[in-house]
Amino acid sequence: MDESYLMHEIKIHDKVFIPYITFEEIEHAIKRMANTIYEQHKEDVPVFVGVLNGVVMFMSDFLKQYPGQCEISFLKLASYEGTSSTGKVKIQMDIPMDLNGRHVIIMEDIVDTGSTLEELYRILSTKKAKSIKIATLLYKPDAYKKDLNIDLIALTIPDKFVVGYGLDYDGLGRNLPDIYQIKTEE
Ligand code: IMP
Ligand code: MG
Repeated sequence: MDESYLMHEIKIHDKVFIPYITFEEIEHAIKRMANTIYEQHKEDVPVFVGVLNGVVMFMSDFLKQYPGQCEISFLKLASYEGTSSTGKVKIQMDIPMDLNGRHVIIMEDIVDTGSTLEELYRILSTKKAKSIKIATLLYKPDAYKKDLNIDLIALTIPDKFVVGYGLDYDGLGRNLPDIYQIKTEE
């Protein structure tokens, strides 16, 4: 297939998206993050807890770059409808693993308003983990409304809707290897 075809504008449902962050750039940022976390957790076996579904690509590539021993688990939340956060977060699948005494690193695809993050902290705080850190692939500082610290950020982006590399627009776009940004009239 022609390479340029993969990096063109795309249409998902009613919106047009333009190429924004390439898979190569994403890979570099993930590798940096994996090494940073390893430096902090050389002496223990952390548990990476992925937030489904958006985290699937990030988690899979991150784990391949993580140079130490680790365990993985997942949970599922839901907050988004369309291209703006509803602010309401509900748990759909709890973490099926005992986190008592463990160093836990929550893996998120994106932190937008922070509502999901707040709910994650609330859920995790009942599980007696030894430590809890948050790692996110993408962070939108201009949209963030909470005070909770985000420990690890791979890429910081403006407050514009993105799809690809696990992120969806109403269910579609998750399988794109690169990240695309919504095309808006200037
Ligand atoms: P928050 O609770 O507002 O921080 O939103 C977090 C969740 O909303 C993420 O886990 C994503 O599922 C979704 N989300 C936020 N921004 C975007 C975006 O730009 N594209 C796709 N999904 C997004
Ligand atoms: Mg999500």
